[in-house]
Parts: sequence; C-alpha cells; structure tokens
Amino acid sequence: MDKNEIEKIRVEIKSFHAKTYEDLEFFRIKFLGKKKGILTFLFKKLKKIPDKKRKNIGKILNELKKNVQDKIQIFHKKNFIKGEKHYKYKFDPTIPGKSIEIGSLHPISIVKNRILDILKMIGFSYVEGPEIENDWHNFTALNIPIDHPSRDMQDTFFLYKNPDILLRTHTSSVQIRYMKKHNPPFRVLSIGKVYRNETISSRSNFMFHQAEGFYIDKKVSFLDLKKIIQYLINSLFGEKAKIRFRPSYFPFTEPSAEVDIYCDDYNAGWLEIMGCGMIDPQVLKNVNIDSEIYSGFAFGMGIERLAHLIYKINDIRTYFENDICFLKQFKNDF
Ligand code: DAH
Repeated sequence: MDKNEIEKIRVEIKSFHAKTYEDLEFFRIKFLGKKKGILTFLFKKLKKIPDKKRKNIGKILNELKKNVQDKIQIFHKKNFIKGEKHYKYKFDPTIPGKSIEIGSLHPISIVKNRILDILKMIGFSYVEGPEIENDWHNFTALNIPIDHPSRDMQDTFFLYKNPDILLRTHTSSVQIRYMKKHNPPFRVLSIGKVYRNETISSRSNFMFHQAEGFYIDKKVSFLDLKKIIQYLINSLFGEKAKIRFRPSYFPFTEPSAEVDIYCDDYNAGWLEIMGCGMIDPQVLKNVNIDSEIYSGFAFGMGIERLAHLIYKINDIRTYFENDICFLKQFKNDF
C-alpha cells in the first residue's frame, strides 16, 4: 500500500460525480462493496501491517471511507428534493392508496360537549378539579358527617387513610375548590371522572362521569334552579321531555331534590337523572361566602345515564371496553 496508490484513490473519489442512481451504486460498490470494494480490501490488508504503521494508514483509510459516504449522502439529499427522478424505484400510480380511518368522538365526550354547549349559552363557565382529592374537599366541607354512608370504606377508594387522600367519589368537590378561590357571583360547570368501590355490573362501574353545576348570586332561588334544569333537559332531550322534582336529601343542599325525566320516545317511564338543591348555608360558611348576602344552587348528574337514554344503551361497561365496533357508531349530531 504505497502513497501513490492512496493518492490515486483519493483523487478518484474526489473527482467522482454521479449523474444517475446507477452511477452512484457503481461508485459505492467499487470502493465499499463487501466482496471487491477497493477500500474494503485495503481495510482487510491493514490487519497484516505492523503496529507502528497501522495507526496512520488506518486513519487515512477511514478518511477515504468517509469521503465516499459523504458523496453518497449528498447525492441522496439533492435528488430527494428534486423529486426522486434518478431513483430506480419510481412512483407507481397503479398501487392502491392506503385508506385513512377517521376516528369518532367517544359517546361520553359527545354528551359532555353537548351539556357544555347548552350551559355556556346561559353564562356558565367550565372548570376542572383533581380526581385525587382529600377528605376535606370531598366530604367535610360539603357537610358530609363522619358516619354518612358515602364515607363508608365500601364506597371510597382511599390512597392513604391518614391523612385521608382518596379518589373523588363525586364532582361536588369541585364546588368547594372553586368557591374557596372566587368571589360570587358565578355560574360554573365541571365534568369529569369519579370513582366508587362498587361491584361492576351492567348498571354500575368503579368509575363513571359526572357533570356538576353550581350558581351563586344574590337572591338565587329554587325557581332559578328549576328553570335552568328544565332548559338543560329540554335542550338535551327535546321539548317533549317532562321532568319532576322529588324531595330528597343531600348533606350539602337544603332543600334537596332528585330530578326524574319522562320521555315518550324512550319508553322507560320516569327515570332518575340528577340530584340538586339549594347550597346549604353551612357549606357557604366553610368556604367563607356570606350566606346572609348570597345564595345558590347546585346539581350533579351521571353522564353515562344520560348517554344511556340518548343512545339507547343499557350496559355501562360497553363505554369502557374500547370495542371499536361499538365506539364508532356515535355521531355528534343529536
Ligand atoms: N354529589 C351527588 C352524588 O354524587 C350528586 C349531587 C346531588 C350533586 C345534589 C349536587 C347536588 O351538586 O346539589 O350523588
């Protein structure tokens, strides 16, 4: 391996100019081909050269190899931009295209967005709260006493027992978080996941979604609550949907009610769809809102139950099985 030989190779690499992809392949194989490449051959020979010289020659060979690789890379870059016209494998217009699947919104998202749109029209703003909560926001501040059934270990997933950190059992905790930080008046909606340690069946799941609305101002009355719920239900289910308020009990509202819906179309009789009521003065006190000046109402409902009615579904588990055949049927058009 003498100097002249190496110099000749260097000049040949430097002056090479590929016009076509075939030229380039020829050039690559000539120098770097596995069997007969000139540089491949010299690299093999390198092993037999005495230690002292080997380092220096090795360095030169590596440089030459890099020169070849650079030429190849530059050609690819230039010709890719030019529209691959020198390439062996040209664009074949007869190959069928790949179809792109268009996704659809999850039914729970569709119902969620619909509720949001309806309540935004009458001035509600949207907030979210954490799914991991502490005892105070989920229970105590909402006036839920220690021995209340919803505090039962059966219902609540605790992450730590002491201090009590848990997965929220309802979205009412968002009321507390919001009211603590803002001064009335406000109208707020929150929608999200809640968790309860319930046996999984067609009617119940360990996780489901709730929508929570609350409205605080001077002189808010039960009549305002009724009108807004009526507006919401008619917007969701049409003008023919009837509702009734049944007296009920929630620790954080007084008076409290449950709302049932009746739609001829759904053939299901009266169905309970939400809880609501006037926010208890004690709850307002817990978040430093003066209940002598302000009053308000709140309501909470399960999104799956609404989706059941809208889409005539009767098993809550179907929403969460991720079965594409089920999920792609829903259109954002009710
Ligand atoms: N948090 C209640 C539950 O999960 C539902 C509820 C009832 C929410 C009355 C409210 C309300 O805001 O006023 O069962």
